[in-house]
Amino acid sequence: MSNILITGVGSYLPSNIITNKELPENLNTSDEWIKKRTGIKQRYLVSEGEFTSTMAIAASKKALQNANIDSKEIDLIIVATTTPDQTFPATAVKVQSELNINIGPAFDIQAVCAGFIYALNVGSSLLKTSNFSKALIIGSESFSKILDWSDRSTCVLFGDGAGAVILEKSNKYSEWGILSSNFYSNGKFSDILYTDGGPSLNSNVGHVRMNGKEVFKHAVEKLSSCLLEAINDANLKIQDIDFLVPHQANLRIIESLSKKLGLPIEKIINTIDIHANTSAASIPLALNSAIERNKIRNGDIIALNAIGGGLSWGASVIKYGKPD
Ligand code: ACO
Repeated sequence: MSNILITGVGSYLPSNIITNKELPENLNTSDEWIKKRTGIKQRYLVSEGEFTSTMAIAASKKALQNANIDSKEIDLIIVATTTPDQTFPATAVKVQSELNINIGPAFDIQAVCAGFIYALNVGSSLLKTSNFSKALIIGSESFSKILDWSDRSTCVLFGDGAGAVILEKSNKYSEWGILSSNFYSNGKFSDILYTDGGPSLNSNVGHVRMNGKEVFKHAVEKLSSCLLEAINDANLKIQDIDFLVPHQANLRIIESLSKKLGLPIEKIINTIDIHANTSAASIPLALNSAIERNKIRNGDIIALNAIGGGLSWGASVIKYGKPD
């Protein structure tokens, strides 16, 4: 059985940074409230001419460069996004076209904040069962476009950005790459995090609505259970994890996870302070940031986990990179 390596990571952030203090005055919020309840200090927001597709393309180019491969070698593209440029076509085909790739499928996956884990699972499964050899897996979001900027309980939490990884099929190095993964949904909880619009509902894209306390409760419980399952499936123990790269939703969720799992906080990558919650982009953005800071290195055992609207959640355990 072939295994799937992660051989390149890249990301893109808009240049427009909005600190907590720069949020609209009429929100009646404060830097102190946001930092204390969430850990967020700032977020990046798209400007005119920046879209989910353009951020996805920029992140992909960096991932290709870091993997040292040509875009022509890619035969599968998946974009995880809840904020596509248009209802259709898929954002993934725009990436395909811009990178001059003419073969293979390109499609979007929508699992909100769990989207990147979903795309990773679907992409690695497809590589294993097809003659494709290399995939581009992207999380890209212009989440600011679906926020109600008069609702302080949601709009302060999110930001925009994109991250991408290159997956390569290998018949060697069986100890490397994606060691285990899982993903779940439970639609019974679809009413605690959703948008109040959509093409078939009322033709508006709608705005994010959330019962924050309920989401928090499910997040800690489900992020722990799927992660422990993935670690067990990889025949590892929590102590074997060099770094956890969780979905960046809230510092308090990250701290609760650390306590519940007995995983030291230093082993958990935290970029919520600078990126805020970028939904499907948050894991590849945090991963790329940790690699650029030389925190995560070739050969490290990393774990990823995420939860989002649906509810949808999942985790993966990976030996990152490939033998030198
Ligand atoms: N600024 C100031 N006050 C605020 C703000 C704000 N931005 N937002 C809410 N408040 C007020 C509320 O109105 C409320 O006031 P009241 O007591 O007068 O009624 C008070 O603060 C407390 O509100 P709560 O909702 O109880 O605050 P809580 O401690 O639960 O924190 C938060 C809210 C941060 C959303 C928290 O519930 C949370 O993090 N939940 C997880 C949800 C999450 O991370 N969602 C992201 C998307 S889902 C995902 O990515 C997993």
